[in-house]
Amino acid sequence: MKIFIAGTDTDIGKTLVSSWLCIHTGYDYFKPIQTGSRYGTDSQTILELTNSKVHKESYLYKEPLSPHLAAKLEDLEIDLNTIKLPETENLIVEGAGGLLVPINKQSLMIDLIQKLSIPIILVASSRLGTINHTLLSLEAIRNRGLATLGVIVSGEKNQDNCDAIEFYGKVPVLAQLPFMSKISKEVLQEVPMSNNLRELYEHAITSR
Ligand SMILES: Nc1ncnc2c1ncn2[C@@H]1O[C@H](COP(=O)(O)OP(=O)(O)O)[C@@H](O)[C@H]1O
Ligand SMILES: [Mg+2]
Repeated sequence: MKIFIAGTDTDIGKTLVSSWLCIHTGYDYFKPIQTGSRYGTDSQTILELTNSKVHKESYLYKEPLSPHLAAKLEDLEIDLNTIKLPETENLIVEGAGGLLVPINKQSLMIDLIQKLSIPIILVASSRLGTINHTLLSLEAIRNRGLATLGVIVSGEKNQDNCDAIEFYGKVPVLAQLPFMSKISKEVLQEVPMSNNLRELYEHAITSR
């Protein structure tokens, strides 16, 4: 199975959720567009936190900016047609920023997802404001007819927010990744996969 990890925002927990999923599934990892590499990359984080195979980025930019701006600074525009999924069966693909982040003059992150044609897991925060951000993101996904497996919420447990996301968003909350004061491979290993996620994972194995 291939999954696109999208976020309601930047810095919302996409990389942490990807690490957690990689640890528990052994899936490969791919970050097609990385900005802000002068401060480190998500691929490096995944290498530190998991044992997964990490595929090379298609576009890597130094400045921590929206892809369209980071690309402009380095005079290397992103061409969606050059972004190909690595040839592997099981893959976590992490987006950059939120769904409507511009990639170039013509395209947004959501256009890349549409082109790659793989289902989305939307990562959301558990904090106040998340219901609005999550419902807006789900609306954008549905407007384009893209497939969502569900939402994973990251941060201090907030069941009311999860219930609201499920009720108003008509989407399953697949898991809640709790707030972790220390992040390490061991700590991520100790947070078990939810039943919802385990079912998805096992279904992917049996339907191969
Ligand atoms: N559940 C959590 N517990 C502790 N820290 C978290 C949690 N979720 C996200 N963070 C922290 O928030 C920051 C942004 O998360 P990250 O996964 O890098 O977001 P994104 O990939 O969406 O930009 C990181 O420092 C990350 O460790
Ligand atoms: Mg990230």
